[in-house]
Amino acid sequence: MHATPTPSSSSVACTVNGRAVALEVAPQTLLLDALRDQLGLKGAKRSCDIQVCGACTVLVDGAPVSACTYLAVEAGSREIQTVEGLADGETLHALQEAFIEHGAIQCGFCTSGMLLTAAALLEEDPAPTRERILHYLRGNLCRCTGYQKIIDAIAACAKPAPSPYPLPLGGGEGFRHGGASSQPSNPSPPSGERVG
Ligand code: FES
Ligand code: FES
Repeated sequence: MHATPTPSSSSVACTVNGRAVALEVAPQTLLLDALRDQLGLKGAKRSCDIQVCGACTVLVDGAPVSACTYLAVEAGSREIQTVEGLADGETLHALQEAFIEHGAIQCGFCTSGMLLTAAALLEEDPAPTRERILHYLRGNLCRCTGYQKIIDAIAACAKPAPSPYPLPLGGGEGFRHGGASSQPSNPSPPSGERVG
């Protein structure tokens, strides 16, 4: 759906959830209004309207922004992602699955912003600590105060960081510094010296 151009409006070409779109926007049109009113994408919510709560969060070129204070004209040639673009068809994003599994949704008003902010974090840092998750979410408020479950859900999607000391084939049990496996092909000498 496209708005009717007015003398002061301009066409802004951008990509929204992987689809090329042209938004007809006035200089003062906010991205939140363009997404909700022109494209019918209602996932981003209006709440504080002053870039405090994060309910309106969308990703612009992968970075979380408050769409309530972001001018639509600034979206030209950029890639916008809203919560509607998070799932792959009928398949939910891992974060969406985790939010459901951990009961990280109450009224749901903050959820789209939480999900997109978390997606940006995991893209930037696939193995964030709980402290990092909490810090990264500082711009997203949950009025239902379900923070622990939200953090649990995001932490469940974090991939463990690869070990700087790869274990030998056959598992880690019995691993000893120096590279001797738990079942060396040559039995250890009685003195306890390293084999090989
Ligand atoms: S509505 Fe945009 S930050 Fe609160
Ligand atoms: S679930 Fe209600 S505001 Fe977060």
